[in-house]
Amino acid sequence: MPSDGSTYLDPKTALEHLKTYNEPDGLSVEDLMNDHLHGGLTYNDFLLLPGRIDFPASDVVTESKITRNVVLKTPFMSSPMDTVTETEMAISMALLGGIGVIHHNQPAEEQAAMVRAVKRHENGFITDPVVLSPTHLAEDVLDVKARLGFCGIPITDNGLLGGKLVGIVTARDVQFRDPSTPLSQVMTTDLVTASQGITLSEANNILRDSKKGKLPIVDSEGRLVSLLARSDLLKNQSYPLASKNPESKQLYAAAAVGTRPSDRDRLALLVEAGLDIIILDSSQGNSIYQTEMIEWIKKTYPQLEVIAGNVVNREQAASLIAAGADGLRVGMGSGSICITQEVMAVGRPQATAVYRVAEFATKFGVPVIADGGVGNVGHIVKALSLGAGAVMMGGLLAGTEEAPGEYFYHEGKRVKAYRGMGSLEAMEQGKGAPSATKGRSKTLDNAATSRYFSESSAIKVAQGVSGDVQDKGSVRAFLPYLHVGVQHSLQDVGVRSVAELQRGVREKKVRFELRTASAQVEGGVHGLNSYKKRLFST
Ligand code: IMP
Repeated sequence: MPSDGSTYLDPKTALEHLKTYNEPDGLSVEDLMNDHLHGGLTYNDFLLLPGRIDFPASDVVTESKITRNVVLKTPFMSSPMDTVTETEMAISMALLGGIGVIHHNQPAEEQAAMVRAVKRHENGFITDPVVLSPTHLAEDVLDVKARLGFCGIPITDNGLLGGKLVGIVTARDVQFRDPSTPLSQVMTTDLVTASQGITLSEANNILRDSKKGKLPIVDSEGRLVSLLARSDLLKNQSYPLASKNPESKQLYAAAAVGTRPSDRDRLALLVEAGLDIIILDSSQGNSIYQTEMIEWIKKTYPQLEVIAGNVVNREQAASLIAAGADGLRVGMGSGSICITQEVMAVGRPQATAVYRVAEFATKFGVPVIADGGVGNVGHIVKALSLGAGAVMMGGLLAGTEEAPGEYFYHEGKRVKAYRGMGSLEAMEQGKGAPSATKGRSKTLDNAATSRYFSESSAIKVAQGVSGDVQDKGSVRAFLPYLHVGVQHSLQDVGVRSVAELQRGVREKKVRFELRTASAQVEGGVHGLNSYKKRLFST
């Protein structure tokens, strides 16, 4: 007995003693989301409480569904915005286990070409190599070297990819030659090739043993299908998490369209290019245009997965689910570039929106995507805990190398342009557009205006801003950071997978806490004179 006379319980009974409480410490998700008491919540307004760790973070499985039939190994998507997702971002996102949604603020043919490039991508293989014919001249090789910096060029009978491979030329073949010498006289015809279907590691081995600079890949008729470069050997990693269509084994391709009649023609081109997932891009998805479009798509292209939206409440979700949506995009006004809530007085705080829609939609087997307002790993985990199958990110990815546009300096910082699709700049496409889309024609049927139902208005009302975001390096390092970050977070919560997290929340075992304004200050860095915030190292 302690000297002050008080009696304590036997420490060995601590776990047993928990049972004397009515429920676990903290709040269930329903209590957390009791909006009559607190108002709508954002991700910053709450925390998850820690659980028990008895497994390494690397064991945590982040697999999750984004539509009825598409499972991703990492729950990450990039936004269909013209400063976020074009070919490079879409390929990188898919290789790393997520999906990039190709934007539609561009002519349909260009968007379709991007979809085709994603579908044709085979990691490490160059599927659109520069090709010349035997009648090209030595000076053409020098010209390619001057313009593109390489000169190991395959020669086919017709000078095109798909033509019969007849030789290869390198800089040395043309070095001391008259520039007008035809390549048929200088090309190497003693070729080392590999057959279509070869794996990357097998092809890499041949390349290494052959001591050649390039390895042409040919089909059974000897026609050139792709090329492997020695200079890429070290860069060719394998991507075990890659998002691939299980039947074709090609990367998944996703793209956005609007809901106008012309979007049906656009969609036809995208489908022909191999599209797997279509996103109906609207800031307010509960419209007759969208429900009719979903019904039409499901009838015309039953193999396509349709993600509808955006929605923030049950009623909107119900319309789109009833029309046949395979997934829902959730968010209105939460995007970092967004002024919708300010201007339209319509929207919903994002955490509440995700929870309310997910709670309803999952009853029908329809996954939801938490779109907008994701600023860090914690936000991602919170979205998943509230029932999201994945998060969609714009601003967080816009500063990566793979986002469209060039870096420039703003107030001493290296940045890239990032703009809302409802900004006047995006709606006026081309007029003073920042680096990403500079020079594109203004005569497009403008996708950005249709997203905000303003194509027929004389006065365009902005719902977004245009600005820039800081350099984040390559998405090929940044996305793995987000992935490992999510694994560590789920380990803290004491769950081994996204599925276990969501089950735990439903069963009230995973608990939450509200964060007051001062708790939010306490939870950030405070009291330091100065500091550096480095998020990860590789
Ligand atoms: P972020 O990740 O917070 O930057 O938000 C990106 C999301 O904001 C996108 O996926 C869109 O849903 C949304 N969005 C894009 N452009 C605009 C806009 O101009 N106004 C409002 N929302 C936008």
